[in-house]
Amino acid sequence: MEKFDLKSIEKEIRENLDKATTTEALGLIYKKYLNKKGKLSLIFRSLGGLSNDDKIETAQKANKIKEWLKNEINKKAGELKEKKIEEKERNEWIDITLPGKKPPIGRLHPLTQNLNKCCEIFQKMGFSIILGPEMENEWYNFDALNFPPDHPAREMQDTFFIKQKNREKMTSKEKLLMRTHTSPVQIRYMEKNKPPFKIIVPGRVFRSEATDASHEVSFYQIEGLMIDQDISVANFKAVIEEFYRAFYEKKIKIRLRPSFFPFTEPSFEVDMVCAVCNGNGCPICSQTGWLEMMGAGMVHPNVLKNCGIESEKWQGFAFGMGDRMAMMKHKINDLRLFYNGDLRFLRQF
Ligand code: DAH
Repeated sequence: MEKFDLKSIEKEIRENLDKATTTEALGLIYKKYLNKKGKLSLIFRSLGGLSNDDKIETAQKANKIKEWLKNEINKKAGELKEKKIEEKERNEWIDITLPGKKPPIGRLHPLTQNLNKCCEIFQKMGFSIILGPEMENEWYNFDALNFPPDHPAREMQDTFFIKQKNREKMTSKEKLLMRTHTSPVQIRYMEKNKPPFKIIVPGRVFRSEATDASHEVSFYQIEGLMIDQDISVANFKAVIEEFYRAFYEKKIKIRLRPSFFPFTEPSFEVDMVCAVCNGNGCPICSQTGWLEMMGAGMVHPNVLKNCGIESEKWQGFAFGMGDRMAMMKHKINDLRLFYNGDLRFLRQF
């Protein structure tokens, strides 16, 4: 009779192998039977008490099981590895014939597109594009532009002033505010440059106002300034007519109405024929056929003087226009639509 029940060890191994579904489980089997202290190794070490014949026979049988087990473990480990790779491939498989997911494509805001277009048109007419700060001081925003000290535009309800300690004691160059128009950039430019020049200034401006269909607390303006010798209102009219023709891609009739701005003399307002109804009258132009588009005038001699420019020798025109242009172009009757960030609206441009 055999001292060791090799048959039942083999059976036990077989059962263990059948149950093993991971490489870790195979490792445990290896440890249990083939390590130094494993069941099969112990058999070899305990052969001493057997007869020579039994010794040989048991050793041979145990060896056979050992080799077989090693083989089985290797085979199964290979199979498991392959299965893992297959699984990974199955999970990571992509159908390259499927149409891709479209990334959402950004676009320029309609008002940015509008400003860009204006800049392009004026550049073609020889104007340079100049920028200025959105936070200004009272000197540039008001004083240098010939606003009298008690002008209503300087009131809190129109202007966002910046809170400053001891503001009462400050000079107008120290008192800060959010610019209410782009006109201060005229001053900044004229201080540093000698005429003749032609500039336009696109930029954001701020007003402390209640919002409605045509008013926002912040909006965009384009300021224009042309200074040379022998410049008259006729030059202004020609420039603006050419600008509108290019911007609206058709000839647009305009008219000048007398108006008042502290920084121009004479001053006027420019109306254009309503592009929606061609002057026939519609809700956009309140049935008048005309729309007020910009303020303008011949630069006031005081303004030139404030910038160290001889007003006897040099003169010119200035103008300032707002988002109305874009509203007209796209037939939008509420300015707030441009500013409230509704993508359903903005994606149309
Ligand atoms: N700055 C004026 C405003 O915001 C617009 C304006 C009027 C600008 C006449 C000018 C101008 O340059 O000459 O209402």
